[in-house]
Amino acid sequence: MKTQKSVTVFAPATVANVAVGFDILGFAIDAVGDTVTVSWNDQAEVIIEPLDGIENAGSISTIASKNTAGLPLIKMLADHRPGFGLKVKITKGIPLGSGMGGSAASAVGAVVAANILLGTNLSREQLLTYALEGEAVASGSKHSDNIAPCLYGGLTLTRPGDEPDVISIPYPSELYCVLVHPSMVLNTKDARAVLKKEITLKSHSEQAARLAAFITGCCTSDFKLIQKGLEDILIEPARAPLIPGFYEVKKAAMGAGVLGCSISGAGPSVFAFTQNLEIANRAKEAMILAFQRSGSLAAQGWISPIRKKGATQP
Ligand code: HSE
Repeated sequence: MKTQKSVTVFAPATVANVAVGFDILGFAIDAVGDTVTVSWNDQAEVIIEPLDGIENAGSISTIASKNTAGLPLIKMLADHRPGFGLKVKITKGIPLGSGMGGSAASAVGAVVAANILLGTNLSREQLLTYALEGEAVASGSKHSDNIAPCLYGGLTLTRPGDEPDVISIPYPSELYCVLVHPSMVLNTKDARAVLKKEITLKSHSEQAARLAAFITGCCTSDFKLIQKGLEDILIEPARAPLIPGFYEVKKAAMGAGVLGCSISGAGPSVFAFTQNLEIANRAKEAMILAFQRSGSLAAQGWISPIRKKGATQP
């Protein structure tokens, strides 16, 4: 039954991988996100309106089955058959191809809004499954490290599988993220293509130990452990050459005193963690300058605590 004409949802940007949790770890931030409005369409189909609020909007398909917000809604309509279709309007706050979880935000925003509009009362686990269809459109792989924190908020660990488990990890409230986005596009598919398909047992153990240290540090508010954990030996070395000036940007952040610094998601954005707002401000300015000087790239930055809430009506 149509009780309201449309529903608008804010879906936050997210930092996936968090250095040591490739494809399984991610957190939401407060500073930036996408706004998704879903309304009724008299025809029993999904219509994607052209994107608002962003450059290069033409590079995103408005064919629903090829759109990160469209495909999840096609599947929802097929399962719940309300007798009407849906229209989707996305205002992008998250730059395209930035490694800030833009495709996840559009998919999550769409399924959360549609769930309210259709009155389907689906659980977050069910919404996650639909939203993952959208992630696969964008990157060719159904990883949930952006989808889960965008939907649940906070810092999440996902055990992959047909029915993924999402575990919300406690974290210290005085942990701030510095996120810097250089003005270039890096497609997730391209950033995945440079990764080795196999790793050695030794490097697996080393990375697993860091992941365990990072998570234990978050659970116990032990900043020393968080610092020790935040070093990616597997993915960062392969992707760094795709991001002009990456190592200088990282050096600038570490020089400002952050706990750790790495690539946000598939890049090219770079994130750092600190427990001190003054250090966060210094790091942000130093990272932006390093992108300009060493990467010849203009950059913009945000400072944000980890966002507690996932995608919600504003
Ligand atoms: N875990 C993904 C990757 C995040 O690093 O390729 C991007 O969606």
